[in-house]
Amino acid sequence: MRGEATRIGDGINRVDGRAKVTGQAKYAAEFEAEGLLHGWVVSSGVAKGKIATLDTSAALAVEGVVHVLTHENRPRLAWFDKSYRDEDAPAGSPFRPLYDDAIVYSGQPVALVVATTLEIARHAASLVRVTYKTEEHETDLAARREKARKARPGKGGYEPPPKPRGNADEALAKAAVKVDAAYESPAEHHNPMEMHATTVVHEPDGALTIYDKTQGVTNTQTYVSNVFGLKPDQVRVISPFVGGAFGSGLRPQYQVFLAVMAAQVLKRSVRVTLTRQQMFTFGYRPATWQRVALGATAEGKLEAVVHEAIGETSRFEDYVEVVVNWSGLLYQCDNARYDYKVAELDVYTPLDMRAPGAVLGLYALESAMDELSYALHMDPLALRLANYTERDQNTDKPFSSKELRACYAQGAARFGWEKRLPTPRAMREGNKLVGWGMATGIWEAMQQKAAARAVLSIDGKLVVGSGTSDIGTGTYTAMTQIAASILGLPIADVTFKLGDTTLPPAPLQGGSWTVASVGTAVKAVCEAVREQVFKLAKKMKGSPLAQASLDEVIFAGGEVRLARDPAQAVSIAAAMRAGEAFTLEEETSTLPQLQEQAKYTRATHSAVFVEVKVDEDLGKVEVTRVVSAIAGGRIVSAKTARSQILGAVVWGIGMALEEETLMDHDLGRFMNHNLAEYHVPVNADVRDIEVIFVPEEDEVVNPLGAKGLGEIGIVGVAAAIANAVFHATGKRVRDLPITLDKLL
Ligand code: MOS
Repeated sequence: MRGEATRIGDGINRVDGRAKVTGQAKYAAEFEAEGLLHGWVVSSGVAKGKIATLDTSAALAVEGVVHVLTHENRPRLAWFDKSYRDEDAPAGSPFRPLYDDAIVYSGQPVALVVATTLEIARHAASLVRVTYKTEEHETDLAARREKARKARPGKGGYEPPPKPRGNADEALAKAAVKVDAAYESPAEHHNPMEMHATTVVHEPDGALTIYDKTQGVTNTQTYVSNVFGLKPDQVRVISPFVGGAFGSGLRPQYQVFLAVMAAQVLKRSVRVTLTRQQMFTFGYRPATWQRVALGATAEGKLEAVVHEAIGETSRFEDYVEVVVNWSGLLYQCDNARYDYKVAELDVYTPLDMRAPGAVLGLYALESAMDELSYALHMDPLALRLANYTERDQNTDKPFSSKELRACYAQGAARFGWEKRLPTPRAMREGNKLVGWGMATGIWEAMQQKAAARAVLSIDGKLVVGSGTSDIGTGTYTAMTQIAASILGLPIADVTFKLGDTTLPPAPLQGGSWTVASVGTAVKAVCEAVREQVFKLAKKMKGSPLAQASLDEVIFAGGEVRLARDPAQAVSIAAAMRAGEAFTLEEETSTLPQLQEQAKYTRATHSAVFVEVKVDEDLGKVEVTRVVSAIAGGRIVSAKTARSQILGAVVWGIGMALEEETLMDHDLGRFMNHNLAEYHVPVNADVRDIEVIFVPEEDEVVNPLGAKGLGEIGIVGVAAAIANAVFHATGKRVRDLPITLDKLL
């Protein structure tokens, strides 16, 4: 609605929606450059060993082929591990493409064919002949579990498991009721719509403009300048649109390196796009083994929590995630013990995937809680409520806010949980068994340092920018909304820019912290502009606001109005004209209030209720109804917020029932590397999903009070589905995904 001010919390359409659905939004592989060359990656066919021979002659003989880059002819660089370490790199020695003849995983890039067209490059790549001297590999987590070891913490934000409290093993042994089970989850690969791609424009002066699919332009810029010995101002990274990422775009992937290297060698512009198959040749959610043991009194009070996990990692980096810590955080229990280890395999390093660690840990914990509820003959929701905690016992701190009780209550009411028959297989519809399950979710509410710039023009248009990203999460919309609300402008008069290293820096888009971090910077910078406008409005000759203070006015409809008498107003344009200010500009950087925040545990919570229908003859599971109740602080943009949760629930359905990358351990290679065989939910798999945001106020997390919603929506979904499947069928499946063969 033109002219109408937008408030924080309103549900508005995506400001970038039209550009996206009309094809005007440009993605990394869609930027053109004069004389652009195309690279095609040749991938290793073996998992471990050395390249014995690499024959590129047939490829080079193809007309249109310009170069074939290999470890044998690549330029000299600073190959120190340290240069390759990006913002999200775990401890270890990052993979360096084309470094030498060593093969460390199947699918590793071994050559880049560069040609005048994509088709020529692809054809020529098929003519590159590589032979290997193979070595024995191990890719099976089960075979390496015994050799798992403590992880080296390296990545910012990784919290090693807390120290044990009480004596969990003793308490477990003595507990009146107990469950003790192992849960397994497979490797899962990112399958965003947009494949990873980089277009490097080689500028005449040798500077590079890089269009990259990334969750953080600064990260790519730093990585490229470190690796190639360039000054950061010679490397501009641009990424206005990202066709899905959720972890796969946190670290610069090898196509960035290869495209830049080719551009540097050839002094030409080069694009490298990975194929869908090659999307399975870098990070993934790691296959993980977990044990959860719970002990309780006969009344259902938790006496012991033991949570152990082993995740796979590569031989060269320790990928770590927070899998087990949540268990003693979510429920009241005085005896808790955790263990987290990694097992090295001959694979590429795993990578964050939406709510990394938490989805796995909560799958196991919330499945175990469900198992305990049956052992106790207690309602699963009643069991959670009986063990509700008002305090984080891991760190012995209060929560900055925690409306999980409201999530349980509102979610259960909307779902109709009280009509649930407790016994498995008690509810049916014809030949379909009906099951109802629930689970809890939790994720951290984090804030990072971020900066933003705002320029208000005399025509009333506001342009705000920050070098953040929008991986489909709604950043453009949420930031536009925050800016518009502060200056009382219609949405149409506000433009938000992101994804460019010439903008003020922002953190990687990850960890669900963008609204909390960049939103805070946008709020601050717009407030600074507002103050400037107000000063000009006061100074105007005969200003009705001459005596007013900032808290006595409102900004609305392009005017500064006296709150108690809105007819007393000055238009922003008139104030700027009078002050001879054609533009007002501000740049601000905001930091979290670390000292204050450190006094609290800051987290989002959720309660997920699921109905499944299971075909008794075929074992096919349909998720017919989901109610997800979220406590995520203040909601900034209601419509994109809801979409975040919807998308996350869909991904949770995929995790529970479909997603799994299968390794042929003889070959050490992921086999189902396409969307025909790597299954993700389609429309027919998605039915009713209801999202509830419970009111939650929080003045600690950040000045917006928003906790971030990118990840919480997926946490707990797989467990709730698994629990519903048990309720329907009486079969407890402890290894994901729950495919129909496991139910027959
Ligand atoms: Mo997220 S897995 O921090 O993109």
